[in-house]
Amino acid sequence: MDIKQLQTLFFSSQNQRWFWIFILKLQYMNQQHATALRPHAEHQYAHELEKLLTIDNKPKPANWKLSPCAVVTYLLGGTLEDGTVIEPKYFGSRRIIEIAVATLATDRALLLIGVPGTAKTWVSEHLAAAISGKSTRLVQGTAGMSEDSMRYGWNYAQLLAKGPSPDAIVPSPIMEAMRLGEIARIEELTRIPSDVQDTLITILSEKTLPVPELNMEVQAQRGFNIIATANDRDKGVNELSSALKRRFNTVVLPLPSSLEEEVKIVQTRVEKLGKALEIPAQLAPLEEINRLVTIFRELRTGKTLDGKTKLKMPTSTLSTAEAISVINNGQALAAHFGDGTLRANDLAAGLVGAIVKDPTQDSEIWKEYLETVVKERKQWADLYRSCREIITI
Ligand SMILES: Nc1ncnc2c1ncn2[C@@H]1O[C@H](COP(=O)(O)OP(=O)(O)OP(=O)(O)O)[C@@H](O)[C@H]1O
Ligand SMILES: [Mg+2]
Repeated sequence: MDIKQLQTLFFSSQNQRWFWIFILKLQYMNQQHATALRPHAEHQYAHELEKLLTIDNKPKPANWKLSPCAVVTYLLGGTLEDGTVIEPKYFGSRRIIEIAVATLATDRALLLIGVPGTAKTWVSEHLAAAISGKSTRLVQGTAGMSEDSMRYGWNYAQLLAKGPSPDAIVPSPIMEAMRLGEIARIEELTRIPSDVQDTLITILSEKTLPVPELNMEVQAQRGFNIIATANDRDKGVNELSSALKRRFNTVVLPLPSSLEEEVKIVQTRVEKLGKALEIPAQLAPLEEINRLVTIFRELRTGKTLDGKTKLKMPTSTLSTAEAISVINNGQALAAHFGDGTLRANDLAAGLVGAIVKDPTQDSEIWKEYLETVVKERKQWADLYRSCREIITI
């Protein structure tokens, strides 16, 4: 139905006012998505999801928008029969994504685990967007979290006025996802206190959320599942109980396997982010991204890429996500205070901040790396000079 048909329908039924309110609301929503600093995956890639939906003729699990195969294509990219190009969202092993998607079609929940910056949140957002068309049923795990954030809360004004009733319930994103048969996301599961984590046991095994105050329950509809993320570095903070572990299938997201792969990830994401933030800079030169990723990989692994020199490792994680931020930062410097092209001095500015997180320990390690590795690489002389300048500021 196009806008003209809609108009006739509304006008003939003398509902002109509602028609215009509807149109204005649509426009407002579109405007909001268009100007949002970071649109949700389902809005940013709405055209890709729509295309996949139209050509997808494989069987879909109940309440899934796309078939498992189409979800994998959405995440890893590809070209559809009609020539539509689907951008890759995740760069890495196909098998990992297939396992993650297959898990969500079973009765076990999915736990994405890995070191910081390995795209756990990113993958979970895109999985939820492709499967349920909604990535915003999200609970952020924190140390001070209460059970209400997992289950439901109460609207106290309603509660006092009318007593406990279904209307007075404020559902958590998980409760909503259960009711609608959608995917709910939990960020940083291991930061949540253990007793609160265990609220999930009934939800995941019985697929129900009891509301004892009203002597009722919310039963999960088909299609409901949970994607949780947890950081390797948080291991042991609030270790999952074995009862809960059994209800999750754990998938480890690794660091990029090669320099080329990591450079590709940084390059793609920086280009996207640069467009979203409207940074008026040229595309970041591949050479600078290469140098940055090389430094990160060498410091992360404690040896130079040729394996000849052993290095001390800084306390910072030096993740791919951090590399993306450093280049992005450099782009902003180049655009606003340089000639628009990212150069060694723009790279150095963000590099030192990313590596030196602990002023005493990291700064010694960084200086040693500069003198023993960067200085020795003749074609890196400009970067060495810029980094030295920053250290002495
Ligand atoms: N393999 C990858 N493919 C695509 N993007 C990646 C990859 N690795 C990292 N990224 C990018 O890194 C950025 C950060 O990822 P994200 O925030 O999801 O990391 P995380 O694993 O959740 O980190 P944390 O543990 O700190 O929460 C995203 O912009 C994402 O696109
Ligand atoms: Mg995360």
